[in-house]
Amino acid sequence: MEKIISENKAWIDEVWEKLDKKLQVVSERSYDKIPYTTLDGVHDNKLEEKCDTPELIDRGAAWWTNGFWPGMMWLMYAGTGNEQYKKVGEHAEELLDAAFKQYDGLHHDVGFMWNISSGADYRLTGSKEARLRTIYAADILAARYNPMGKFIRSWNADHVGWVIIDSMLNIPLLYWASREFGDDRYKAMAMNHADTVMRMHIRPDGSVRHIVSLDPETGEFIEDFGGQGYAQGSSWSRGQTWALYGFVLSYIHTGKQEYLDTAKKVAHYFIANVAGDWAPRVDFRSPEEPVYYDSTAAACAACGLIEIAKAVDEYEKPLYMNAAMNLLKTIEERWCNWDMDEDSIVQMGTEAYYPGGGDKGRHIPIIYGDYYFIEAIYKLRGNDILFW
Ligand code: GLY
Repeated sequence: MEKIISENKAWIDEVWEKLDKKLQVVSERSYDKIPYTTLDGVHDNKLEEKCDTPELIDRGAAWWTNGFWPGMMWLMYAGTGNEQYKKVGEHAEELLDAAFKQYDGLHHDVGFMWNISSGADYRLTGSKEARLRTIYAADILAARYNPMGKFIRSWNADHVGWVIIDSMLNIPLLYWASREFGDDRYKAMAMNHADTVMRMHIRPDGSVRHIVSLDPETGEFIEDFGGQGYAQGSSWSRGQTWALYGFVLSYIHTGKQEYLDTAKKVAHYFIANVAGDWAPRVDFRSPEEPVYYDSTAAACAACGLIEIAKAVDEYEKPLYMNAAMNLLKTIEERWCNWDMDEDSIVQMGTEAYYPGGGDKGRHIPIIYGDYYFIEAIYKLRGNDILFW
């Protein structure tokens, strides 16, 4: 692993310098925003509701991606020590407080929203305010646990038994809360949830279901849905990466070998489907044409693959590290925008490419594409602080 990193050190350092140069400017420019995407190159939290409806909708304070911008700031602060990033990260956390006032509007994505924002802040600076925000978010997530079905419900309203694979990136907040309080109940909820997801979402070939509906009184499987993928039974690539990274994170936090084995199994399926051009399609089981890419799947997978490489035995490491390097180089060569006048970095993300099984999606830059790309490069520079 060290050999692969040292062979690529010049490239890694060069990319990090470009990230720092651009983000010093963009962080100042976007100080008062929590961006989701860009409109005409400028950070914004608004977007058309659907690709075929022109009206711009503000995604609001409780939007699930709102932790990524402060998370980027804390990654850059951790990697550079530049106080400007700290200032912007702290301000974004204050803006994010508006979401706590909309309790009804919150959801299981409080892990995405606060673990890498206030959680990272607390772990890096010891801030008491940041700790309180993170505790509050962890308790909101814990309150969603269903002890009969042994899972954390994903959505609100009548989706009582719906669980989405994205949840695997939310539960690390509960592992943190257990350590913080010295109280294993949070960890037990997270592990019960991970065990349920392992049984319900992961198919024998290593592919992953996006949405599963479970009986809320027994936890038994009812049905599954294609969600953001092409169709029921297909394989939405970002969903594969939520599982890949999510399970290795659960392994890191608990030491449970089955989680690492699951992460590896999903990684093998993922690698088999991208090896070639290392540019993930939105869905690995969609028609060959037209080709739609998802850069965010590449960035998130790279983070998970680096963590798997750290966890496995010496002779296994190159498989995962080489795959991570190939994905990151593809992102940099094909999709990075280093124009200082435009706010986003990684282009060609997708939110929902196949609404209703159709093909009316679009490629847009999305904030978590930038976040995971930065996190992966941060890891490659030898930083061992885990943001999740
Ligand atoms: N968590 C929703 C998505 O990945 O688009």
